[in-house]
Amino acid sequence: MQNTSHDFKAVAEVVVQKLANYLAESQSGEGKVLIQQPIGQLAQDMELEKWIKEGGLTPAGASKFLDAYLPNTQHMHHPQYIGHQVAVPHVASSMADLVHGVINNPMAIYEMGPAGSAVEHTIINWMLDKVGWFKGSHLGDFKKGKESGGGVLTHGGSVANLTALSAARASIAPEAWMEGTPNDLVVLGSEVAHYCIARSISIMGMGKKAMIPVPVNKWEVLKPETLIPIYKRVKEEGKRVMAVVANACATATGLYDPIDEIGHFCEENGLWFHVDGAHGASALVSPKERHLLKGVNRADSIVWDTHKMLRTSTLCAAVLFKDYRNLTTTFQQKGSYLFYEKEAVGFDIITHTVECTKAAIATKLFWVLAAEGEKGLAQFVGNQYAITKKFKQIIDAHPDFSCPYEPESNILCFLYTKFGLDNSFQLALQNAVVKKGDFYISSSEVNGIRYLRLTVINPLTTEVHIQALMEEIIEIAAKLKTANF
Ligand SMILES: Cc1ncc(COP(=O)(O)O)c(C=O)c1O
Repeated sequence: MQNTSHDFKAVAEVVVQKLANYLAESQSGEGKVLIQQPIGQLAQDMELEKWIKEGGLTPAGASKFLDAYLPNTQHMHHPQYIGHQVAVPHVASSMADLVHGVINNPMAIYEMGPAGSAVEHTIINWMLDKVGWFKGSHLGDFKKGKESGGGVLTHGGSVANLTALSAARASIAPEAWMEGTPNDLVVLGSEVAHYCIARSISIMGMGKKAMIPVPVNKWEVLKPETLIPIYKRVKEEGKRVMAVVANACATATGLYDPIDEIGHFCEENGLWFHVDGAHGASALVSPKERHLLKGVNRADSIVWDTHKMLRTSTLCAAVLFKDYRNLTTTFQQKGSYLFYEKEAVGFDIITHTVECTKAAIATKLFWVLAAEGEKGLAQFVGNQYAITKKFKQIIDAHPDFSCPYEPESNILCFLYTKFGLDNSFQLALQNAVVKKGDFYISSSEVNGIRYLRLTVINPLTTEVHIQALMEEIIEIAAKLKTANF
């Protein structure tokens, strides 16, 4: 394959045809969701070493490679993919990946991708608008004034959370950039905050112990009444609170922290309030579900992954600030080849991110919005949340299954109870289901109990698939029991 437009077209035709077949087969529910071959076998079947050492790819070679590659993927488009919080991407999003792959415009400095930059700024305005932090007259209003918030896209929620916490640090201790992080700073965060929060705190040199866990109830929802005594204790110990972190929603259970109440506490005490909405901020696009984030405009920062509930391929996350000035105060870097005075036609965002080279990731969400419109995305989020409640009823109605709580999002934990509540039995069930490969489900431990866990993120998953999953679990459980598990 030469690096020519002719060969691009010839190989792309093969790739598109293979992917179209893959998509059709996956969406029809034919075949397995996942087949896990031993890694050595896979490397051999795909002839990886030969290709790496010899090259020489042709359209026929690409076809052969994909014939070995595609069957060994996680088939996210299969309606029985009900596993992790990773979008089943809308095909429109893949167009953005293709275009970016060809033009490769890392648009963090405007001149390296003016079009991609315009898309990112417009998408950020759209997201700010959903939070209530956009005061411009239309989405293309980039000089939106002091009252508007600001934001930037990052490669993933973990980097977005690190950015938000870095902004909180710059706010309370601007000298930290030069002098290092003062050792009296702590973060009050949900006991079940995603691990990337503690990781960010460690990366920032505060030590993981600077994360003060705020207790949650048995379904992982932060108990706001505990904030006042914890804050009092922390102050008595001579510590300063850099940020309070809430979940919207919790990773394991999909339940939302009481954002309004926590926001009120933060306002009263002048504390930075950060909402980790990596999964659940997408409820903001649904008029039916946005109440789950009531009070979000009381926050100072919010993280929102689009590669979870907004149907984009990985990765595309936003960190949004109520006060746009945080974008310029967080990182104080100098790089003479990038940061210098020049005529300003657009905006450079390279100073606003952890990343230097950054893909035009906004285009993924743009293509999905251009295909579905914001109404389409609102409907998608609303439907996934609603159908999860229905699935809860179906599972709960069976005497040998139980769902411990009413779901608020599209994440649902449940147990197979016929043979008791033993954690290792539930885990063995999940492992056996995944190994069989007809369904893909996850599991998580909540309050010491291991649950089977669904993320209902595929719009093709229906009640029929849930009934079939329950039948499969019953069958596997009986076999495990007979084998004296
Ligand atoms: C609440 C929460 N925050 C952050 C993350 C990390 O986001 P990412 O995987 O995009 O880095 C996750 C991932 O599931 C999450 O659930």
